[in-house]
Amino acid sequence: MRQKYAKRLANIQPFKVMKLLARANELEAMGRPIVHMEVGEPDFVTPQPVLEAGIRAIREGRTKYTPAAGLYELRQKISTFYLSDYGVEVAPERIFITAGGSGALLLAAALTINSGEGLLMSDPGYPCNRHFLSSFGAEAQLVPVSSTDGYQLTADLIRQNWCQTTRGVMLASPANPTGAILLPDALTEIIDYVGQQNGHVIVDEIYHGLFYSNAASTSALEISDQVVVVNSFSKYFGMTGWRLGWLVVPEDAADSVDKLAQNLFICASSIAQYAALEAFTETARQEMETNRFEFEVRRDFLVKNLRELGFEIPLEPQGAFYVYAKLPANIINSEDFCSRLLEEFNVAITPGTDFGYFEADRHVRFSYARNLQVLRSGIDNIRQALKVLV
Ligand SMILES: Cc1ncc(COP(=O)(O)O)c(C=O)c1O
Repeated sequence: MRQKYAKRLANIQPFKVMKLLARANELEAMGRPIVHMEVGEPDFVTPQPVLEAGIRAIREGRTKYTPAAGLYELRQKISTFYLSDYGVEVAPERIFITAGGSGALLLAAALTINSGEGLLMSDPGYPCNRHFLSSFGAEAQLVPVSSTDGYQLTADLIRQNWCQTTRGVMLASPANPTGAILLPDALTEIIDYVGQQNGHVIVDEIYHGLFYSNAASTSALEISDQVVVVNSFSKYFGMTGWRLGWLVVPEDAADSVDKLAQNLFICASSIAQYAALEAFTETARQEMETNRFEFEVRRDFLVKNLRELGFEIPLEPQGAFYVYAKLPANIINSEDFCSRLLEEFNVAITPGTDFGYFEADRHVRFSYARNLQVLRSGIDNIRQALKVLV
């Protein structure tokens, strides 16, 4: 019998963390004090100037379609941001405003790959990337990475894994789930090698801005104008629910991306775009910087306490708001551990199996998107759990 819906659905896996979140919410509704360390969303509200600009946009009736590439004024502001924060000139015409980083990832996939081809990406990595590719009949060519590689693809790994169907690489810095960053030299080597293969380099920079311990914040755009860069207002700018991001492409790709954006989305939310015009003001940036310092304090607290509890964290995460940790020796199944931690000890965390296959069963991801008080009670509960579960 013919399948009712498309065959591609069979290859798309739901986020395990969403099931876990639904269960956590159910338990919470029953009165259980659940500690949320699974969420990938900052607890800070959107900076005040952005909120006010959003309200103003609604009052002034700015509720119509914008150009597919986004408001030119916003593209100009992002261009100025690249100059002020990174010292690199990026013409507004190369910048496309999208519905979140997700919209930008979809456009990046549509722009760069044919069906039957693939992009190399790290395992562990952000799970949706695999599915963006499979939506176009392409595949994620997963390369296991560990702390020895800094949890990132290296030029060597790319060379070893490049095959006939490989069209390029997809990188993320800082990365989800590891918080690992790519240093400028490593990034340059990768861009050079992939360039020699006539391949594409797509870099997800959506956690940019959230760097700690003076980690370098090099954008791939500082190294080459031939890379495709994804960014978002979700994380550093604190605008997850507004659904706004952007894509930067080489000059010769701009017309193609414009027609893709017209067809796929028409445009990103006009209200969100008007609000984001205020995201680069000094007052808004000050709020974001205060939040960044707070994230660093949380990271230090979590890494120290998890290590004391026996979780292995060989590399201190240098960005984003996640800690990817190896489970203490006697725990062998991350999904089972996460489920028992939630059901019996009220703590929600994400199993490594959400991020790939390589040693996924032995790893879990903790998010520090919630405040120190929440993290403290999470650690207390995990301490109790380990007495029983190890
Ligand atoms: C690495 C990475 N890329 C992209 C996204 C998409 O985020 P958004 O669409 O909210 O910008 C996420 C969300 O968590 C992410 O972790």
